[in-house]
Amino acid sequence: MTSKPVYLNGQYVPQDEAKISVMDRGFLFGDGVYEVIPCYLGHLFHFQAHIDRLTASLAGIRMENPYTTEQWLEIFKSLIDERENQYIYVQITRGVAPKRDHAFPENITPTIFAVCNNIAPFAGLETGVKAITADDSRWKFCNIKAIALLAHLLHRQEAVDEGCAEAILIKNGVVTEGAASNVFAVIDGVLVTPLKDNRILAGITRDVILELAVKHNIPHCERDISLAELTTATEIWVTSSTREIIPVVELDGVAVADGKVGAVWDTMNTIFQAYKQSLL
Ligand code: PDD
Repeated sequence: MTSKPVYLNGQYVPQDEAKISVMDRGFLFGDGVYEVIPCYLGHLFHFQAHIDRLTASLAGIRMENPYTTEQWLEIFKSLIDERENQYIYVQITRGVAPKRDHAFPENITPTIFAVCNNIAPFAGLETGVKAITADDSRWKFCNIKAIALLAHLLHRQEAVDEGCAEAILIKNGVVTEGAASNVFAVIDGVLVTPLKDNRILAGITRDVILELAVKHNIPHCERDISLAELTTATEIWVTSSTREIIPVVELDGVAVADGKVGAVWDTMNTIFQAYKQSLL
């Protein structure tokens, strides 16, 4: 049986036959960026926003988007199974250089890879999950969706080692984001999320939640959240394209409010699921 096709540099090849050079700068340096785009029953969720973020990430590492939105759409459509809930993973590295040199080589061709996988339903969606806080050890360009994810991986593993689903990162006393998610908290009845700047990845799920909060008159704001405030929040959520909106019911071993999934989450998740459906 041949493995499913992936897209690599202009060709569709079975995944187990797709090969890149050991001199690829993505392999040697983590010199590249990526996107994760949910695709519900063939519908690419907020597709243009993901392409715009990809272009911004590329610009952040001094690269150009190699394709137009239409070209990306054509590639992704070839990989998608419309009967499933899936996500596209797309990665662009600076490409293969003749030698390992930190400086960018001239006239280099990017390596472009895309694959589509099913979204595994996330067990903690209905029941909530446990999280830890951790000192954010990452660099100054967290707005770039870089493939160099070692700091994120170490943080996620810290959480997993504690029997938790996510690490909520704290920089200079304020919440930034999760190891692979954005953070929301309900504080004094207001849904709060950190500001969009270079301390966080501008999550597409985060933007959609804020748009839905406006539309449904849910009090909300974007501002710094101190660690002290986070510990008094009545609800905490972590959000991402593949896990959607996950309620956190225990933080650093202490129950969040009564330790149960909150009412604001319940409302927002219902609105979010209905919104997803409305796009199909
Ligand atoms: N990560 N912040 C970080 C550091 C992330 O890695 C992610 C998502 C998010 C949420 O962004 P969005 O809502 O656009 O998915 C925030 C993806 C899912 C991943 O790396 O697999």
